[in-house]
Amino acid sequence: MREGTVSRTLLEWYDTHARDLPWRIGPADRHASQPDPYRVWLSEVMLQQTTVAAVKDYFHRFTTRWPTVSALANADDADVMAEWAGLGYYARARNLLKCARLIAFEYDSVFPQTASELIKLPGIGPYTAAAIASIAFDETATVMDGNVERVMSRLHDEHAPLPNSKPVLFSYAEQHTPTTRPGDYAQAVMDLGATICTPKSPTCAICPLKSVCRAFSAGTETELPKKTPKKPKPTRHGIAYIAIRSDGAVLLETRPNKGLLGGMLGWPTTEWGDAITPAPPIEADWITLNTTVRHTFTHFHLELQVATSNVELETVPSIGRFMTSDVWSPSDLPTVMRKAFDLVQKNRAG
Ligand code: ADE
Repeated sequence: MREGTVSRTLLEWYDTHARDLPWRIGPADRHASQPDPYRVWLSEVMLQQTTVAAVKDYFHRFTTRWPTVSALANADDADVMAEWAGLGYYARARNLLKCARLIAFEYDSVFPQTASELIKLPGIGPYTAAAIASIAFDETATVMDGNVERVMSRLHDEHAPLPNSKPVLFSYAEQHTPTTRPGDYAQAVMDLGATICTPKSPTCAICPLKSVCRAFSAGTETELPKKTPKKPKPTRHGIAYIAIRSDGAVLLETRPNKGLLGGMLGWPTTEWGDAITPAPPIEADWITLNTTVRHTFTHFHLELQVATSNVELETVPSIGRFMTSDVWSPSDLPTVMRKAFDLVQKNRAG
């Protein structure tokens, strides 16, 4: 493969096939406008472990409500966490706020322009630093995500399994990263990975790289990238307690910042473990629903029983606070907590 062939071919393809994405300045407009680093940063943080389709609406709501980094820096934590609800990986939202406040209050609202400076900021790892530096500032930084790994493993017919093969795939990616238009190039590889060089059934027939792709000529594309099997996830168990007061208010707590779902609004729950130790937040007649909520986190599956009770106006909880529907909405809850509420509502309706 000649040096520069891959990037030249991909950039040419990108000029006519770039996806139209809300945070992107497309190749046709790139000469007239510069990307807004705030929008690039926000989109790349949202896109960590999350698909473009899932991110679009969130990106629109965030940028409408907080159009600049200083607007976001001045937002209330609870509002930002509620707006993030449903996107998952909530540490991202807490780091997003920390980072916005640093940029707004310590950097005079100006983002650093290099990957080596960006990586020092909260929530910005090697991938995001390289993505922002290349897309917003055209630094020749190598962007490596799951899409790029897949494209590189196929292009070079690399059969060593992930994650051990990461360094070798990175060195391939580095070799192909051009000094001209590195930002468009990074987005071109990601678009190719998302639309043509897809995990299960790549459409090699229309791929701009098929004539240089070693996996295509060997017929191995669907076997790649190889992956070392992961350990199966354990299942943890717990109970979520949904207390409904006679005026319709429900008992919610803001979870501590550290730990899973940190900073998010949710139902009081027991610890999540191998066995369940009941821990009701109020003494009441709790009814356990006969359906459970299942949710998968990075390192375990969670099976939550849902207990509900109707309580008096005077009830004083040991944790959390009663909230009426004018101050909270089910959309403020992380998905697992919303699923529990949906079950209770279905149960009451039926
Ligand atoms: N996935 C993550 N970041 C992306 C980007 N900037 N363009 C396309 N897909 C992406």
